[in-house]
Amino acid sequence: MSSTKKNQPTVFVIFGGTGDLNARKLAPALYNLFLDGWLPEQFAIIGTGRTALSDEKFRAKLLDGINQFSRTGKAAKDQWSKFSEHVVYQMADVKEAASYQEFGKRIKAYEQEWKTPANVIYYLAVSPDFFPIIASNLAQSNLADDTDRTRIVIEKPFGHDLESSRELNRLLGQIFHERQIYRIDHYLGKETVQNIMAFRFANALLEPLWNRNYIEHVQISVTEQLGVGDRSGYYDGAGALRDMIQNHLLQLLCLVAMEPPVNFTADEVRNRKVDVLRAMRRFTPEDVRELAVRGQYGSGWMEGKQVPGYREEADANPTSNTETFAAVKFFVDNWRWQGVPFYLRTGKRLHRSASIITIQFKDAPHSIFPAETGENWQQNRLVISIQPEMSIRLQLQAKRPGLDMMLNTVDMVFDYKGTYTSEAPEAYETLLLDTMEGDQTLFMRGDQVEAAWDLIMPILTSWQNRASQNFPNYSADSWGPEVAEALIARDGFHWFTLPLNGKK
Ligand code: BG6
Repeated sequence: MSSTKKNQPTVFVIFGGTGDLNARKLAPALYNLFLDGWLPEQFAIIGTGRTALSDEKFRAKLLDGINQFSRTGKAAKDQWSKFSEHVVYQMADVKEAASYQEFGKRIKAYEQEWKTPANVIYYLAVSPDFFPIIASNLAQSNLADDTDRTRIVIEKPFGHDLESSRELNRLLGQIFHERQIYRIDHYLGKETVQNIMAFRFANALLEPLWNRNYIEHVQISVTEQLGVGDRSGYYDGAGALRDMIQNHLLQLLCLVAMEPPVNFTADEVRNRKVDVLRAMRRFTPEDVRELAVRGQYGSGWMEGKQVPGYREEADANPTSNTETFAAVKFFVDNWRWQGVPFYLRTGKRLHRSASIITIQFKDAPHSIFPAETGENWQQNRLVISIQPEMSIRLQLQAKRPGLDMMLNTVDMVFDYKGTYTSEAPEAYETLLLDTMEGDQTLFMRGDQVEAAWDLIMPILTSWQNRASQNFPNYSADSWGPEVAEALIARDGFHWFTLPLNGKK
């Protein structure tokens, strides 16, 4: 479907243009936006990197990425050739002023050709060490002067801890207005994640139940089969808490726990989300021992293949104490959620890749049925499956057909596959389009990022000061360390998983 809405003439400058993110995510997203008619007629993509490459070679690299990773499959020749006319490459050293002068010249040339000023989006798909350097150089080369037309997109990780995130915010704030800064959390661009707000705030029936009176506990579980692979260089200094919980999982929690915003404007929505982070209970070191657990995967077998343990991955530190699994029990101390635990877990090399939010409701106050009718009795659950299955299911009790009264659990399911024929866009398509349109609703505001760091700092510090004695403590293809089961079992619950093709 083609859009009728056209954006301003736009130049994208992609730092880290030869990198993985561009090949896997950005180029396919831009290409699909082009196919669907979302890009303006006048647009240009300037890829930059340290490698010397001709425009042709760079285009070939992007085409390769698109052919491998685009949701629309291999690029058609004529469409690709039209798109690729807009793509150029500039070798650049991000530390050198000369590179920025060259960007400036190119941007000017486009504006002259188009006879109109362009919006310029600087996309920092580079290692975080370069964020301050690039931002400062953009300022010094006067490439960030037009505060209405220039935007900067920052990939995660946004800081390494509270202090460094504050420092980065301070620096960016000296150059850009907050309305120009787009901090990516790609989970927020996922179709199913965006739907959490639609589901909560466009349906009257949920709100009366959406609180401590009816909800017993909430689980947010993002499990991955993949190991760290060749990302040890980055991952070993991060770990699961920084890599996933500080951003993706806490953002999911905010969407579940936030108060209804007054309207759907970026700041209103983000205010309500930051309220949640501020209301979350801060941990003392004793709390950390009781409420947060960690794990690291050992070697094992996954789907018939032998896989290395974390400490044996390429370039890994053989005595690393970095966690590849984390589970935390959080509380949101406000009227709506007082006393309702939020269990978050995430890990690599687990039995299945699945991102699921489970809202478990309290039990019915009184059962009128004899005990034997409900052998399989289960409290009502709302299960929001973000990926790979895209669905929302409400689990209810129903009478099993037959002559006697027997109860069992049934699912009322909304699933994307059965409901919609068109394919959902990739998160990066949504996020890039929003950047062009100047809509920051799905991006992290500076105070949000800091509030999330502030919340997890006691856990980070405590884990750093107290090396784990038993790593690796879970094997590949398991559901993580036993301590994670114990964390939730102590409260009488267990981690919920969706049955998948009969696989438990
Ligand atoms: C990234 C993390 O932010 O998210 C990765 O750095 C992780 O470690 C990835 O694998 C998960 O994203 P998705 O979209 O595959 O669930």
